[in-house]
Amino acid sequence: MTGKIFMLIRWFCVLSVIIGVLDATPMVQVIGKGNGVFKGHFIFNLTEDLVGWKMQIDFSKAVTGLTSPVGLEFVKDSSNETVHYIVNKDHTGIQTTKNQFDIMVEGKTKDGSVPSAQAILQNMGHDTYNVPTPPNNDGTKYNYDEVLMKSIMFYRAQRSGKLPANNKIPWRGDSALNDRGQNGEDLTGGWYDAGDHVKFGFPQASAVTLLTWGLLQYKDAYEASGQLDDMYDCIRWPLEWLLKCHTGQNELYIQVGDGNLDHNFWGRPEDMTMARPSFKVTSDKPGSDVAGEYAAAMAVASMVFKDKDPAFSVKLLNHSKQIYTFGKTYPGIYSQNVKEAGPFYGSDEYKDEMAVGAAMLYLATNNTQYLTDAETYHQHGNQWGQSWGSKFTASMVLLYQITKKDVYKQDIETTFTNWLPGATGPNAVPYTPKGLAFRTKWGSLRHAANNAFMALLAAEAGINPTKYRNWAKSQIGYILGDTGRSYVVGFGVNPPSHEHHRAASCPLIPASCSHDFYDMKYSNPHVLYGAIVGGPGPNDEYDDVRSDYVRNEVAVDYNAGFQGAVAGLKSLHLRNILD
Ligand SMILES: *[C@@H]1O[C@H](CO)[C@@H](O)[C@H](O)[C@H]1NC(C)=O
Ligand SMILES: *[C@@H]1O[C@H](CO)[C@@H](O)[C@H](O)[C@H]1NC(C)=O
Ligand SMILES: *[C@@H]1O[C@H](CO)[C@@H](O)[C@H](O)[C@H]1NC(C)=O
Ligand SMILES: *[C@@H]1O[C@H](CO)[C@@H](O)[C@H](O)[C@H]1NC(C)=O
Repeated sequence: MTGKIFMLIRWFCVLSVIIGVLDATPMVQVIGKGNGVFKGHFIFNLTEDLVGWKMQIDFSKAVTGLTSPVGLEFVKDSSNETVHYIVNKDHTGIQTTKNQFDIMVEGKTKDGSVPSAQAILQNMGHDTYNVPTPPNNDGTKYNYDEVLMKSIMFYRAQRSGKLPANNKIPWRGDSALNDRGQNGEDLTGGWYDAGDHVKFGFPQASAVTLLTWGLLQYKDAYEASGQLDDMYDCIRWPLEWLLKCHTGQNELYIQVGDGNLDHNFWGRPEDMTMARPSFKVTSDKPGSDVAGEYAAAMAVASMVFKDKDPAFSVKLLNHSKQIYTFGKTYPGIYSQNVKEAGPFYGSDEYKDEMAVGAAMLYLATNNTQYLTDAETYHQHGNQWGQSWGSKFTASMVLLYQITKKDVYKQDIETTFTNWLPGATGPNAVPYTPKGLAFRTKWGSLRHAANNAFMALLAAEAGINPTKYRNWAKSQIGYILGDTGRSYVVGFGVNPPSHEHHRAASCPLIPASCSHDFYDMKYSNPHVLYGAIVGGPGPNDEYDDVRSDYVRNEVAVDYNAGFQGAVAGLKSLHLRNILD
């Protein structure tokens, strides 16, 4: 101390709990007196754990220079000199009930007198909104309407850029408003990839292709579930971004954000300050894989928007054709030419994406050149599985649907014989004891869901319909709760609540967020409705732990085939084909 006389005031605060708001009514007791700076405590006996907090202090007179001598808190916002707001610092956000929570402040009044004060402490670790659950009009084991609604909500929570008035996710705001191309082109918008905030064009476009294909095939399901308008809205958001990425005839942006810089940050997208470089493929550094996928997404979308928004449909088809031609004219693998994308979503083949792009363009135009191309690009034989990087399963289904040729039927039967239970041999997909087709530990559920969607589409085309449909239902049932737990956040019995997702783990704005929220044992403050997590290990083992990004991350890629399959099951129920 420097000899300055401090007035020490203690404000003891009585605490009562309202959900999300800790309402403090203080008793003020002046301990010391003097001139100059005053110093006081607010002491809260916590009756619930704090996961980020905000405190409002109402002083009896104007107070300036408010600080915290212990350096544990800071003033985030002060609307005027009598009302002050303090939020947690990163490392003081988590407070457990066993603690008496003591917040000390000091400040000055104009005349040097001691103000009285009252503080209200608010817990910022609770969602403040409830999502109405639609009734299960179908009487199915799982409420498919609810799943479709929530999966669409998940995609809404992944939105980057300037959010529209109908944002509907109260804990998300505008973010990444300076995402630009190398020549200043506007690249705002699109979806954040997963629990992080990079915009990876390759898996994003792949998700859009599957989601939109699901809408094309199962529009009846979206209509009956009351989700049709929200579904158009859902896919339009990333489509607008994909269109922005096409900045020249032979130029396509494929990524915004640096994977390493991004992954070192744990916080909200709204708070990002790191550099967000952008990367593109060109005729010199081509990427036919990413071009084929963007072309596929836009071509299938041109079909679903044909009646809904004819001008948008024409625009999508126009760009799809140009991007496809770019991919065909300049063959190349994008992750070899854009090194920054390699470690995250590396590609080893472009013929699968080009086959799907060509097949979708054929469906959208009836131009037989596209069909010839698709058949040329397609590779016959057993397929490992449908995923963001591997799409010959999709091309065999499309080509069978279009041509009805036996070769494609054989591709499908070979692949699904290996995927369904009872397969033997080197290509047989292993099963967990509780019945999940376990392709790989990374996002095990997503692989099963993607192939369930493909099986439903093959069944629509007439191949082993009963067998494939029942199998698809069993895999989606596993995800929705057949093992006694749900793997869909905010849905069903014992769903995940610690999913690896930066924004969902952060307290409400303006409370500060940081890596401490990654480490906390508490559930995420926000319910990331509808997201499916990576999933269990080979023996159905699963822990709902945030740090386990293999089993507990979420991604725009994970939900796409899953949502298509759920729409398929709903449609089959509507048509009285499946109960
Ligand atoms: C808070 O807890 C302390 C210690 O148990 C107790 O002395 C004090 O009266 C409590 N304060 C209030 C406002 O309840
Ligand atoms: C400060 O804010 C409070 C609460 O909004 C209000 O009652 C008060 O009049 C304001 N004082 C000034 C000087 O603006
Ligand atoms: C189609 O693409 C061309 C070339 O990029 C462009 O000039 C034209 O305006 C586009 N048309 C539509 C309807 O988007
Ligand atoms: C393609 O041809 C089929 C069969 O004649 C027809 O049903 C479909 O509407 C056509 N599609 C386009 C985009 O012209």
